[in-house]
Amino acid sequence: MTTRYLIGLLLGTEDDWPTAFTEILSRLGPVPGPDGGQHAFDTERITIEPFSLRDRPRYHLVIDRLAYWYYHPREWLKKVSMMDGVYLLNSPFTFQSMEKHAAYCAMMRLGLKVPETVLVPYKNPLDNSRYAYTAARYNKSFDLDAIAEKIGYPIFMKPYDGGAWRGVSRINTPAELHAAYDASGEMLMHLQKAIDYDVFARSLSIGAETMVMRFQPDQPMHSRYAVDHSFLSPQVGTEVVTIGRLVNAFFRWEFNSCETLVSGDQVYPIDYANACPDVALTSLHYYFPWAMKALVKWCVFALVTARRARLDVETDRFFTVADEPGLSYDGKLAVYGDLADAYFDTARYRDFWSGLQARLDEVVLDWIAGPDFDQLLVRTVRSAYPEHEHDQFIAHLRGLMELWVGEETTRLCTNP
Ligand SMILES: Nc1ncnc2c1ncn2[C@@H]1O[C@H](COP(=O)(O)OP(=O)(O)O)[C@@H](O)[C@H]1O
Ligand SMILES: [Mg+2]
Repeated sequence: MTTRYLIGLLLGTEDDWPTAFTEILSRLGPVPGPDGGQHAFDTERITIEPFSLRDRPRYHLVIDRLAYWYYHPREWLKKVSMMDGVYLLNSPFTFQSMEKHAAYCAMMRLGLKVPETVLVPYKNPLDNSRYAYTAARYNKSFDLDAIAEKIGYPIFMKPYDGGAWRGVSRINTPAELHAAYDASGEMLMHLQKAIDYDVFARSLSIGAETMVMRFQPDQPMHSRYAVDHSFLSPQVGTEVVTIGRLVNAFFRWEFNSCETLVSGDQVYPIDYANACPDVALTSLHYYFPWAMKALVKWCVFALVTARRARLDVETDRFFTVADEPGLSYDGKLAVYGDLADAYFDTARYRDFWSGLQARLDEVVLDWIAGPDFDQLLVRTVRSAYPEHEHDQFIAHLRGLMELWVGEETTRLCTNP
């Protein structure tokens, strides 16, 4: 018997990864489940339409890339999650925590090394008739310079709910501090101690898997992710992976990217809540096949094993560890790692894929090395860059993908 599942894709403007995801799933074909039956998957792009709150959705799982910004689909997601048990990447109920602020609070509570951070009131009153009255009565004047002095320059000023570097500035002097605060207008800002770091690690987590990549924030978009397999010591690498998995398990986020600054052997998390992590072919390039496999693997695993989405967060499980007297930072991380493994059902996930991984690897290698993928690559570059840059970026991206194909071919030959 074959069970069919429909995966809904709630998309913004992107076309690259949804094409890849759909193509890989269809080439993979039906997979056997623990029940001995076959399980088959279809994908469909979701359109935005009026819905009755009692409508039954056709989707079993939805990958959402839109609802962080767009409220109509966000409310539809809440409805299908709460009423119909549709499995979501990510849960709309913790979107509110997708602002950096709540993630900082959680991480500090769990004993992680988030740099010193202060939230300052709005510079300009909000456009709300009641706000001016409230502000006049309750917004106490404060000494911005004294706050900055206490944190110590240099400082980053950035929105409490930021993303995509909107409104971020690095501040070295009181004059820059005032200029940045005056410019912040109606954005609510954090002041955060700048970390003088050696390497910037950006990790992308999809379900039970995490890839840590060396990130170069000062480079243009297409060369921010460097292909580098050993830029962290094994110990720091494990710490970065564990922190990402911990935050995701804590908020029950299953598709998220995290940023950590590494200075010597110290790991400082700075940006741990990205509702819609970058998975563009043009930015991930070499790591794109990994991301697509992880996304396919997690969706298939969740559907075939009837994984249930949990809407509660049960923070006490984590806080108990944080409060354990005498447990060191490393000791806590080890327990957090176990809690994350339990949440992501890591052992069962590995077991589920152990017999199927070779087939998936072959399907993906075959597709990436072939003409259909090259057409997607060309189409993606043409839609992302101005015409005079097409040739340059097509060659650049082809080079990186050929590197992946070469290394993957060797890997599969050596460990078939
Ligand atoms: N505390 C910090 N120390 C050093 N660099 C920082 C710090 N905070 C932010 N940055 C730099 O600013 C960039 C944007 O800040 P981030 O918190 O990641 O905001 P966004 O959500 O907009 O990406 C980071 O990628 C990093 O390069
Ligand atoms: Mg960031």
